[in-house]
Amino acid sequence: MLLYIHIPFCDSKCHYCAFNSYTDRFHLKNEYMKALKKQLKMELERNLKTSDKLETVFIGGGTPSTIKVEEYIEVFEILENFIDKNTEITTECNPNSATIKWLQGMKGLGVNRISFGIQSFDDKKLNFLNRAHNSKGAIKAIQNAKCIGFNSINCDIIYGVEGDSFESIKNDFDTLKSLEIQHISAYSLTLEEGTKFFNKSEVKIDDEELSYKFFKYLKELGFNQYEISNFALNDKYESKHNYGYWQHKNYLGVGAGAVGFIKNKRFYTKKGLEEYIQNPIEYEDIEELNEEDIIVEKVLLGLRCKNGFDSTIINKIQNTKVDELVSLKKLTKKENKIYNNNYLLADELALYILE
Ligand SMILES: C[S@@+](CC[C@H](N)C(=O)[O-])C[C@H]1O[C@@H](n2cnc3c(N)ncnc32)[C@H](O)[C@@H]1O
Ligand code: SF4
Repeated sequence: MLLYIHIPFCDSKCHYCAFNSYTDRFHLKNEYMKALKKQLKMELERNLKTSDKLETVFIGGGTPSTIKVEEYIEVFEILENFIDKNTEITTECNPNSATIKWLQGMKGLGVNRISFGIQSFDDKKLNFLNRAHNSKGAIKAIQNAKCIGFNSINCDIIYGVEGDSFESIKNDFDTLKSLEIQHISAYSLTLEEGTKFFNKSEVKIDDEELSYKFFKYLKELGFNQYEISNFALNDKYESKHNYGYWQHKNYLGVGAGAVGFIKNKRFYTKKGLEEYIQNPIEYEDIEELNEEDIIVEKVLLGLRCKNGFDSTIINKIQNTKVDELVSLKKLTKKENKIYNNNYLLADELALYILE
């Protein structure tokens, strides 16, 4: 079982971001953390036996570093019996709020993986994206995390933004390499509804060649692509949490707007902070997935990462299409498993197989 914990507060709202996060609700932090702990207790009691251990915990957001370490102490007390030395415990954070004190405190509580929202080392681009930090601050934060003893560090980068070129992105990756981090998530900008960038098509560059070029460059730097947007120095540093999602494992979702997935049911918590605080243990919605929905998801997710999917889950006609794609060298078949040779084609291939 995996666990996702959502912290819906941010210091600034980035112009591209549609995540459930707020810059004007800081007065609700205390009440929010109380509600979150209530839901966390309920989820653990309902879904885990006392001897069960969580495979992963992922504190995401929003920005988890907008919440003081003291506020996380009770969260980790609740988790205590459900985690052990094998549990991957990640927290996302922003360079401006992840101070030495905060990083040290979170390490003390048991966090063993850090994920920084860096996005770029170009101050002009950071400004354009409305980030709350600059490149100097980002470098310092990563160095601090390393000094404190974190040895599994991810940095998020956004590419495909107006003004990006191979050279500018190469510069970001060179900087990350020199900082000796272990994992990079490189996301192609998407223009999301409800954000400042929505409807501004000029902001996004759609250049597949650019993507292929820097995938190759990341490989040269030693970062292996194991999912469309994720690269790790080796298997040990892959995000077990995200990989769990792609393998269709069960997960608990705690916090406003978080989603859980257990035994083919998806559980949606209340998205609004006030509503969530009022009743954190009542779901907004429960969606039941049928067998076909699950197959579609397994094929789609499997083609986006190195996990692939099992050919036994699809029907005869779909398997004929898979064989066709294998002969065209688009897919690879090993025993019963089907693997994608080019993650950027994942959606197209899935559509072709499943239609
Ligand atoms: C929850 S945020 C990470 C933690 C922290 N809030 C931060 O931004 O520093 C998750 C990541 O999703 C990516 N992201 C969010 N919206 C995106 C979009 N519209 N297009 C591409 N990447 C996006 C960003 O790289 C961001 O770092
Ligand atoms: S990208 Fe991160 S910091 Fe920016 S608004 Fe979204 S969640 Fe907040």
